Formats: sequence, structure tokens, C-alpha cells
Amino acid sequence: MSDAVSIIAAKRDGHTLTSAQIDWVVDAFTKGVVADEQMSALAMAILWRGMTRPELSRWTAAMIASGSRMDFSSLPVPTVDKHSTGGVGDKITLPLAPLVAACGAAVPQLSGRGLGHTGGTLDKLESIPGWRADLTGDEIHSILADPAVGAVVCAAGADLAPADKRLYALRDVTGTVESIPLIASSIMSKKIAEGTGALVLDVKVGAGAFMKNLSDARALAEAMVALGTDAGVRTVALLTAMDSPLGLTAGNAVEVEESLEVLAGGGPADIVELTVTLARTMLTAAGIEGVDPADKLADGSAMDRWRAMIAAQGGDPGAALPVAKESQVITAESDGVVTALDAMGVGVAAWRLGAGRERQGQPVQAAAGVRLHAKPGDRVLAGQPLATLYTDTPEKFEHATAAIADAWTIGDAYETSPIVIERVGL
Ligand code: URA
Repeated sequence: MSDAVSIIAAKRDGHTLTSAQIDWVVDAFTKGVVADEQMSALAMAILWRGMTRPELSRWTAAMIASGSRMDFSSLPVPTVDKHSTGGVGDKITLPLAPLVAACGAAVPQLSGRGLGHTGGTLDKLESIPGWRADLTGDEIHSILADPAVGAVVCAAGADLAPADKRLYALRDVTGTVESIPLIASSIMSKKIAEGTGALVLDVKVGAGAFMKNLSDARALAEAMVALGTDAGVRTVALLTAMDSPLGLTAGNAVEVEESLEVLAGGGPADIVELTVTLARTMLTAAGIEGVDPADKLADGSAMDRWRAMIAAQGGDPGAALPVAKESQVITAESDGVVTALDAMGVGVAAWRLGAGRERQGQPVQAAAGVRLHAKPGDRVLAGQPLATLYTDTPEKFEHATAAIADAWTIGDAYETSPIVIERVGL
């Protein structure tokens, strides 16, 4: 027989929790027997004391067991998914899911909505007229089984790791988000419950990311790879740079537009590089050989899959995307080379323009966002446009401009640095 107070005290005093204690506390929390304040205290004790690898595996398994687990083992092709820990301008899922499907895998991508400065994949796709994020399990299955589609990006249902949903809401208001075991188990419980056979994690590192330094990012990647591996999911992580935004857009419809450029064989070089690298890593993790994703971008088959994927979820892939009612341009104050562009400043500006939300459940503006005209390495002259800001509500310009105005550092020389920093696993 367990009780919440002795479990909290055990972790507070630095002991390893037993499997029985973990199973009991997560189950009792899901049923409302363990109170929110008790789970919050336990989260704080875990933040300070950490968890061993077996403890963390069991904790994650208990989170998964709080809901139902999807099963795609009857599909004739391997399943593989990608998860990003979140970055500014990170629209990679949009070209990546149809691209990997075009290469022969099925991609079940259950995503979230944006909260804060990094934006949400579902919010971006919802700027496409008619597209819907909420699908039933049967709909997900039949889209994945359709050989002309094979990729789905939709909202995670309420029954997918419900204990994590409740715990995340508590962590958000109790200063306990920044715990590597809690972040790793939160992400991996949802990804394992989603039923994918292989998983590639894009762990962002830098000023615009959750993990600001390489050693924290590496520790998070190692914890997640271990959890996936222990659960039988072939898991690999790439640590990738998030100091400046990815691509030239941050927002909703503007990011869809840029993804379409990539699917049409163009688009910014950093987006193309990361999309193709992640696609190759996903195919290797899924055991698919002999197909080069770069060819599938060039020959139009990834774009065909995109159109089929959008249509399968009620969207009109040919419809015009929403355009903002108002725009305002930010200009350079001096001549020189852009040596740095602060991703956080750009992300916060897009969010303040209306592309993101402050509280769960708030609507977002489809057309709000930022289009960048100068990124690190570009030469600029005083007065030249650095970015255009878009919103339907012009009173937001002042607050957004305050966030982005100092985001560019203009100097003399710029040294390029790689997007993919390191690989963990497989
Ligand atoms: N994303 C999640 O899903 N959970 C966390 O704890 C942090 C980021």
C-alpha cells in the first residue's frame, strides 16, 4: 500500500522510487486520488533529485498506461515520426511528413498547438481553408493505409497519455517544467503511445530553444533515446542549432507558404537541408533503404503527397492562404553584415502580432507573423528592410516591434556554423 506523502518524502530525501510506488502515484493522480498540490510537490522533488534510468522508464510507462496506445502494426509499411522540441520558424513537419510518405514510410504525426513563442504545427495548418486537426482513430488509420497519402498531422486525442496532460498543466504553473526527466517522459509518453515504430527527435539548442546549452540538450536527447529504445521504438536524436530562426518566416500562413516553396523544389537553404537530413534519418530508423528524399522533392512526388494529405483532412490545397490586413516594415539602422539574429526576439514578435496565444484555448490569427528579409551572413545597407510584420490588428505593432527591433546584430564578419550539431543513438 502506497501513499502520496511517503512517496513525496522518499523522492525529496533522494531515494529511488519503486515500480509499485510509481505505478500507484501516477494511477492515483489520473483518478484524482492524489491531489494537484501533492503531484506538484512530487514534480518539484523530481526536479531537484532527478530519476534513474529504470525509474524514468517506469514513470513513462505509467504515463502511457493512463490512457490508450495506438497500434499501426497492421499497416503494410513501417511507421516513423519526428518530434521537435520547438524552435522559431520551425515548419519542418509540413514538408517532412509528406516527403517521408513519398519515400515509402507511413508518418503518424500527432501534434500540439502553440503556446508561447515557438508556434504550433496545428495552428499553421489551420490557416489552410477547410483543414481540420481533429480526427478519429479510424480516420488516422485509413489515411495512413491509403497508398496515395500515408501521412497524417493531427491533434493528439484526449486519451493519449492523459496523466501527462494534467501533469504538464501543473508544471506550467509551479516552476517545474525545466526538469530533464519530466520533459523526457512527457514527450516520450505521447510519442510511444502514438504507436510509431521509429522516431527521430530534433532537439533544438540555442537562444531560441528550450535547451539553451549543448550539455542540457545532450542530456535530454540521451534520456529520450533511452526511453524510446526501452519501449521498443527505434529512436535517434539530432541536436540542431536554434540561435536564429529557421527559414525566412515565423507565423502561421506565412510558414505554410514557405513550406510550399520547399515542396516545389525551392525554399530557403536551411529549411531544405534540415528537412532532407531529418527525412534521411527517419528512413534509416524505419529500415527503408535506396530512396533519396532530395529526389522526391525535386520530382514533385512530395508535393503530390502534400496535396493528398491536406485534402484527406478536409483542406483545399489549391485555396489562397489568408493575407494580413496590415503590414509594417523594420529597417536597418546601419550598413554591414548581419552577424546574428535573435530567434527569441523574432518568435516573441510573431506571437505578439497574433500568431500565437497566451493561454490555452485562445484563437490565433492565421495571417499574423514575420517575414525576414535579412538573416546572418547577409550584407545590408542603412534603411534597407530587415523584416515585414503582419497582423489584422495594427495596435499590436508597437509591442511586437519592441521585441524584434534589436534582434539583428550588424557587424563586419560572419562565420557560418552547421545546423546539425550532433547525433545521439542508432
Ligand atoms: N513538450 C512536452 O510535451 N512536454 C514537456 O515537458 C516539454 C515540452
